[in-house]
Amino acid sequence: MATVTPELHKNLINGKWVEAKNGQTMQSVNPATGDVLGIVPKSGREDVATAVEAAKQAHAKWRKFPAPRRAEILYRAAEMLVQHKEDLARLMTQEMGKVLAETRGDVQEAIDMTYFIAGEGRRLHGYTTPSEMPNKAAYCIRVPLGVVGVITPWNFPMAIPSWKIIPALVCGNTVVFKPATHTPLVALRFAHILHEAGLPPGVLNVVTGDGKDVGDALVEHPDVAIISFTGSTETGLAIAEKCARAGKRVALEMGGKNAAIVMDDADLDLATNALIWSAFGTSGQRCTACSRIITQRDVKSDLTERLVERAKALRLGNGLDPNTDVGPVVSDAQLHRIHDYVQIGQREGARVLTGGARASDGALSRGWFYSPTIFDQVNPAMRIAREEIFGPVTDVIATKDLNEAVAILNSVEYGLSASIFTRDINRAMHAIDDIFTGIVYVNHGTIGAEVHLPFGGTKNTGNGHREGGLQVLDIFSEWKAVYIDYSGRLQRAQIDKD
Ligand code: UN1
Repeated sequence: MATVTPELHKNLINGKWVEAKNGQTMQSVNPATGDVLGIVPKSGREDVATAVEAAKQAHAKWRKFPAPRRAEILYRAAEMLVQHKEDLARLMTQEMGKVLAETRGDVQEAIDMTYFIAGEGRRLHGYTTPSEMPNKAAYCIRVPLGVVGVITPWNFPMAIPSWKIIPALVCGNTVVFKPATHTPLVALRFAHILHEAGLPPGVLNVVTGDGKDVGDALVEHPDVAIISFTGSTETGLAIAEKCARAGKRVALEMGGKNAAIVMDDADLDLATNALIWSAFGTSGQRCTACSRIITQRDVKSDLTERLVERAKALRLGNGLDPNTDVGPVVSDAQLHRIHDYVQIGQREGARVLTGGARASDGALSRGWFYSPTIFDQVNPAMRIAREEIFGPVTDVIATKDLNEAVAILNSVEYGLSASIFTRDINRAMHAIDDIFTGIVYVNHGTIGAEVHLPFGGTKNTGNGHREGGLQVLDIFSEWKAVYIDYSGRLQRAQIDKD
């Protein structure tokens, strides 16, 4: 078979496609096959500096470009994304492994976000309010921050960048985007579409490369006003520390250890379907993945049997194959990390009911596949019940009642997503009240957030910001309060009361 030389891709800086100044490159590899899909720049600090300078220059004009007109470009981009949905999804499956149905969903989420937030171009509401003095107007408006640094993970290579880039742009910021090391090709295609839709040069720049080169340079650059990051808690907190020292705004979306509670009155067929999807979709590599199933003792063995049977039946394979249920994990390093956790769980005394090993039969040996794994006899204090594994591994934890279940659910350091299965409205409402996470589902798994509601979590999952919803606009804008005194005399607030 003839060897195809992988195409060399370039950074987008100031509206031009350019190589890294150091001439270095890195590969994008298909985790299902080990094939090299493309070559991208392994950029350095100097590329970040050029991109930030371009973004800074572009901001002077872009912030004056009326928001409804910024939105017109974004609508055009959304239409192009619709046209390219299938090829983008196929590229994404090849680049990070998840099955086509899921990568189509990922692209769709970027489309949804782009349409939704483009609509804000004609709103971006502030408010007017009476002044405490006569002949004085008072109102407030949103203004952009300047240059936004965007750093994103590989598990949602288009959806997550869209949550950040689109609202940043509609607010009038310009962007320097550092995509995940594993998914540069999808990121560059996304940027290509936004560029073709008509973004002026420098408004969106993409610099591919490693976190320690490109990411750090972006975080440390004095002209970057804000960093928006999604990824591990460890990296996020390190970024936050640097940003704090520089007085820079930072919005973080980090880890999760999401749980579903299954009560004894639950519809177990529904719960099984939803939990298999939440635990093993995207090979468990979602910050919203369900990695703890907290079940009332009466239904535990029934539920567990169903889960194990379904997990065993999942077909691993290349995500492009329509018969595949679960694709590979993203890399060799990730595979080892997952297996290390499985061994830790076993040492801690938990029992593997199914999975627990790399899957390498036949064609699977070319990629990084891990068998869907269910642990039983899990105690909430175990590391596998507290730490984010980010792989196809879930725990079954027994509980006596709702109060104890909620206490277990809330006992971890994360607070992204949670769910409860019950037919009893009182139980559901108590759970909604007492669960301390950013997202709660009733009779639904832990995944599947929609773009027009706030997305994010409590505790170490984030630092108080929300993506999605209108709340995302607060990340990417400053509030400006405006007072216009048309009395023609000095009026002193708080003092001239009579
Ligand atoms: C993530 O879990 O990493 O809610 C993002 C969901 C998707 C986004 C997930 N809409 O499952």
